[in-house]
Amino acid sequence: MLETASHNPLTVGLSSTLLPEPCTVVIFGGAGDLSRRKLLPAIYNLMLDGVLPANFAIVGFARTDLDDAGFRALARKGIETHSRRPLDERAFADFEKNLFFVRGPFDEEGSYRALSKRLDEIEPGCGVPGNRIYYLSVPPSAMGVCVEQLQHAGMIRPHEGRPFTRIIVEKPIGNDLASARALNAAIASGFHESQVFRIDHYLGKETVQSLMAIRFANAIFEPLWNQKYVDHVQITVAEEEGVGTRAGYYEEAGALRDMVQNHILQLLCVTAMEPPWALTADVVRDHKLEVLQCLRPIAGRDVERFVVRAQYGPGFHHGVDVPGYRREAGVTPDSTTETYVAIRCFVDNWRWAGVPFFLRTGKRMPRRASEIAVQFKDVPPILFNADASNPLESNVLALRIQPDEGLSLRIATKLPGPKVRIYPVKMDFRYGTTFGDQSPEAYERLLLDVMAGDATLFMRRDAVEASWIWVTNVLESWTQSGSRWLPEYPAGTWGPLEAEKLIQAENRKWRTL
Ligand code: BG6
Repeated sequence: MLETASHNPLTVGLSSTLLPEPCTVVIFGGAGDLSRRKLLPAIYNLMLDGVLPANFAIVGFARTDLDDAGFRALARKGIETHSRRPLDERAFADFEKNLFFVRGPFDEEGSYRALSKRLDEIEPGCGVPGNRIYYLSVPPSAMGVCVEQLQHAGMIRPHEGRPFTRIIVEKPIGNDLASARALNAAIASGFHESQVFRIDHYLGKETVQSLMAIRFANAIFEPLWNQKYVDHVQITVAEEEGVGTRAGYYEEAGALRDMVQNHILQLLCVTAMEPPWALTADVVRDHKLEVLQCLRPIAGRDVERFVVRAQYGPGFHHGVDVPGYRREAGVTPDSTTETYVAIRCFVDNWRWAGVPFFLRTGKRMPRRASEIAVQFKDVPPILFNADASNPLESNVLALRIQPDEGLSLRIATKLPGPKVRIYPVKMDFRYGTTFGDQSPEAYERLLLDVMAGDATLFMRRDAVEASWIWVTNVLESWTQSGSRWLPEYPAGTWGPLEAEKLIQAENRKWRTL
């Protein structure tokens, strides 16, 4: 019998049927923050784990005044400070041999001539057969020109056949629907969709991937995963940090674009999707897309009712005074950029009809805590739940995305003793306790998948645009309202009163994290 992908349970974004191939990763913006903090440490850890192809090259490409030695020093610093595992001198010596730097502005033909020439020189020495991954870690405004120049320089191979050319695109993919479409079109002018890997690093997080396994590898959850049994779903991504040094970008973005359009909607998709009929990239992504297509639009006056935006004011972080958003470096003193959003929404399909999804995300919350919580309906008001003045707590399945990855299930039990008293307890599973070792970083997993050509955990063009359609309605309504007022929450708190009211209006309450 022929083995097909649908018979192999290990194809969900696991590069187990598709193996990572020897390749060169060209990091556009190679001297930048993402490269130093995430990408170089991720590739280093893949090497330590023995999963990186033996033959590889990493080429930093940017305008920054660096040479190979400077790039290697930057990588060392990045790994020393940010790697999951400490730097091992012998391993690093092997690693740095494969690091190179090419200097040049992204919009000049000459830079690409130099890059192409250097790649042709490097690759035979590193045993790389010409497979290339271009990682665009550059502002969206620079992406179009990079693709154009790559194409002009003849550096993009056709999507069929070998050696391969792939491109990784970092968020933000656009600033609204129109700009996302324009950017996608610019990418498509050079690359076939099968060559494009749009990163949402939340999809590389271990718990997010395991949500699929929880749902579809267990008999007990999926039968309950619908409007008959689920009361509501809460998705929270809370951050402790403020805007930090990223005001330049964040002032233009705000929490809705920065977190909801991508990470939170992706979490919603994995939570709400129908069971895919195969675990292959396009089947999984088709099913996720359907969720976005079923999201009830929130537009016009409804935005005021169902979307709360707010900004952090002065407050405390670990007992230390911290400034409000408007006093952060690089932020305009009368900024109306939201650092917090809470939304009530619905997925209008058979499975989820009438089940509210509450989404919230914010900076400068009391702690870093992200989770997806599925709250089940109450048992009937008889037997143990007969006392209306003291109702039982409902069952909740909470998937902790970070920190302390794991899941807990709240169930009602009887307190020991002669009296019948019901007490909620938590069955708790912690990745760290059960599996030890730290989970790989999201970027490790995702980079390996690109090397293997597995796009399951990457955003497809249609999904990016579908989520922008939904988000752009809200953005337009905010613009049209012309209001310069938005509620403030003190730094170090769980958000504004308006968000409490949003959920209380539906007779529910936010979970305490
Ligand atoms: C990024 C956002 O995509 O995700 C940041 O741009 C945010 O503003 C970050 O802080 C959160 O990622 P993580 O993995 O730390 O939860």
